[in-house]
Amino acid sequence: MHSDLFLRACLRQPTPRTPVWMMRQAGRYLPAYRELRKKVDFLRLCTTPELASEATLQPVELLGVDAAIIFSDILVLPEAMGMELVIGDSGGGPRFPAPLRSEQDIGRLMQPDPMADLHFVMEALKITRRRLNGSVPLIGFSGSPWTLATYMIEGGRSTSFRFVKEILYNCPALAHKLLDKLANAVAVYLSAQIESGAQAVQIFDTWGGVLAPDDFRSFSLRYIEQVVAAIRAQGAPIIVFCRGCAHSTDLIAAAGCQVVGLDWTVDIGGARKLVGDRVALQGNLDPAILYSSPARIRGEVKSILEKFGKGAGHIFNLGHGIHPDTPVEHAREFVQAVQEESVRYH
Ligand code: CP3
Repeated sequence: MHSDLFLRACLRQPTPRTPVWMMRQAGRYLPAYRELRKKVDFLRLCTTPELASEATLQPVELLGVDAAIIFSDILVLPEAMGMELVIGDSGGGPRFPAPLRSEQDIGRLMQPDPMADLHFVMEALKITRRRLNGSVPLIGFSGSPWTLATYMIEGGRSTSFRFVKEILYNCPALAHKLLDKLANAVAVYLSAQIESGAQAVQIFDTWGGVLAPDDFRSFSLRYIEQVVAAIRAQGAPIIVFCRGCAHSTDLIAAAGCQVVGLDWTVDIGGARKLVGDRVALQGNLDPAILYSSPARIRGEVKSILEKFGKGAGHIFNLGHGIHPDTPVEHAREFVQAVQEESVRYH
């Protein structure tokens, strides 16, 4: 039983080894997940609590990770605010066919009532907590207001972020209005997840890094802080993961969260010096290392453990989501390497 390693590490309490989980750990690299997806499409999987719970448990059972993350997607929140969401099977990622482009579009967004509109997520959390039965903690999550806004305005994946940046730079007041609305929605959503059984929550700011540092602070971090302030009193540890935001690690550490997630471009030893004992750190192996040999994977794990050094406050993870074509044996080697090698650092 390794039940409380992850939660203890979030609070920088001593543990006998470093806990490990992987972003996107329930997904297509797992043959069992692909089997499940043969039966139902992705959105049906998200909205059927029994099946979402099954997908959540797969990496816990098959790889022995130290935390479960509820199977869902960040884009079910905008859908609950009134936007049509399409996730096709033909690749290209999720799309909003009617993206937000005007003040009227933004005005029409509804404040969701998560217990009703996202009932399936709450139900999946409850079922999963029961099934986990204390074996490992369960993590809830949301996209950050900024990252949600990029999908809602672009309508899908983007490389230039033209439309969202046009609103940002030409109509900053309107951008702030949308981000404030999203911060409120994210706060009530995460709060409901904690009430429904999430023992920690992670805010994914996948696209924070496409903004210049000053813009990241005014249009992304500020609204993450608003979310954190609203849910902090509930006591569940909060992880903030901003991809490509090494320029602001110290500011993120001051946002009120307990854990800062690092992508692989950051030296975790340097980050630890910077944040001191204010927060725990999560990360930060390049997910592409999992394409290399098991020996190389173990070597890279050791190197990150060595950089972080001895003591509490590290949750091992990848620096971003696991790639769908990762050999499952390599994912298993990663998890085992952390669990075995980290003992020497505690
Ligand atoms: O971590 C987990 O195991 C929980 C599940 C989870 C999913 N999406 C499942 C998913 C989580 C935490 C997410 C978060 C998410 N979704 C983010 C933030 C994290 C990140 O990776 O940056 C973002 C940006 C999204 C939006 C999204 N959803 C994209 C861009 C895509 C398409 C890309 C892809 O991998 O296909 C999705 C679809 C998606 N979400 C899949 C999964 C397993 C693949 C869908 C399928 O099964 O066909």
